[in-house]
Amino acid sequence: MSRPYIHVGLEIGTTKVAAVIAETRSDGLLRIIGMGEAPSRGVRKGEVVDIGKITLCLNDAVSEAEEKADREITEVVAAVTGAHLESLNNRGGINIPEDREEIEEEDVMEVEQSARDVNIPAGNVFLHAINRHYYVDGQEGVASPVGMIGRQLEAEYHIVHGTRTRIQNNLRCIREANLKVNNVVMSSVASAHAVLDQAEKELGALVIDIGGGTTDYILFREGTVRDSGVLAVGGDHITNDISIGLRVPTKWAEKIKIEEADVAPGAVSARGSLEVEDPTFAGGRIERRILNTVTEARVRELLSLVKRRLQFERHSQFVGSGIFLTGGTAELRGIAALASDVFGLPAKVVNPRPLLGPSALFESPRFSTAVGLVLYAQAVQEALDDISVFDRLRRRLGRFIPGL
Ligand SMILES: Nc1ncnc2c1ncn2[C@@H]1O[C@H](COP(=O)(O)OP(=O)(O)OP(=O)(O)O)[C@@H](O)[C@H]1O
Ligand SMILES: [Mg+2]
Repeated sequence: MSRPYIHVGLEIGTTKVAAVIAETRSDGLLRIIGMGEAPSRGVRKGEVVDIGKITLCLNDAVSEAEEKADREITEVVAAVTGAHLESLNNRGGINIPEDREEIEEEDVMEVEQSARDVNIPAGNVFLHAINRHYYVDGQEGVASPVGMIGRQLEAEYHIVHGTRTRIQNNLRCIREANLKVNNVVMSSVASAHAVLDQAEKELGALVIDIGGGTTDYILFREGTVRDSGVLAVGGDHITNDISIGLRVPTKWAEKIKIEEADVAPGAVSARGSLEVEDPTFAGGRIERRILNTVTEARVRELLSLVKRRLQFERHSQFVGSGIFLTGGTAELRGIAALASDVFGLPAKVVNPRPLLGPSALFESPRFSTAVGLVLYAQAVQEALDDISVFDRLRRRLGRFIPGL
């Protein structure tokens, strides 16, 4: 059904810039054709603070992806994150005009507009209005109301908003790099696209993407988004704690976090020590017990904060698929066991789900957001294609069945 399309996902993260170029083949399958990555400079806690510096990094990542894909790109779908992003659920409703009974596309747009009729802080803009449920004349669970007969259309939306200027600054560097921003997607929405399938969403799932400077979380219940949020804490804070707590330079703290630290419950009583071969480090040896205690404390606190923000007790029995950990920090040893302990549910570390193309390039939880962006772009494109197919079909059938 779908025609070949090119989608480009761009995540400007605190640690790295990732660009993914994908192609929707004529059979509808998505194939990754290029991927680029460059270390980030000029980003703090997921937000751009130096446009000049980050533009250079972005150019590097995009050029690498272009080279691999052997084509130039002009447009991207961009991820945004930052602790300024907020969410709420709201219900909107409209009456269908007297002169007709059938619900049309414009009604759906109007009901979405009415659900956006909420007070958000001055200076904030809407980022997403994600449909949760439609109701036609009070009937629950309507997936697609267009074409149905009804007098009243209601809908529940998960609404995400954030500070306009901060979102604009995050996108500015993309324009500086002479690229057009086609769509803007909250990072957790993108990551969820990469790691969850519909069955997992139906059963209920919590996705936590822990990057370098932020933790983005999103909770699904009954197939749709129930809650989401961003904490300005990530893997860099763990590194910082190790550096301060063990008095080692940041470079070493980062290395031992990745290679040695273990946050599984129980690892806090690990025996033995490891040697730090660094002339600037006077201590010589680090006890594993201390390393694991410092690391575990920070990660436990971070996960507990997510749990508290979500008031997770209200949801836990509806999260049948469990906890999905992704983002670079999900590679921390023992983190799934710790998350399971904190949330009291099964937890696992997940990569983006396999797509066609050289999977070795993106098979890491670090790339969930960037891969999710191309999947999101594909879903939007399919929805647009479906609307036009439906309109075409309706027009054709309308000639034969009056009133349809
Ligand atoms: N094997 C590993 N073990 C532990 N931590 C790791 C490992 N590999 C990467 N990290 C950490 O993951 C973080 C980077 O993750 P990621 O690439 O997802 O971040 P980002 O998308 O750039 O940042 P953000 O989304 O927060 O803006 C860094 O803090 C890094 O130290
Ligand atoms: Mg990230």
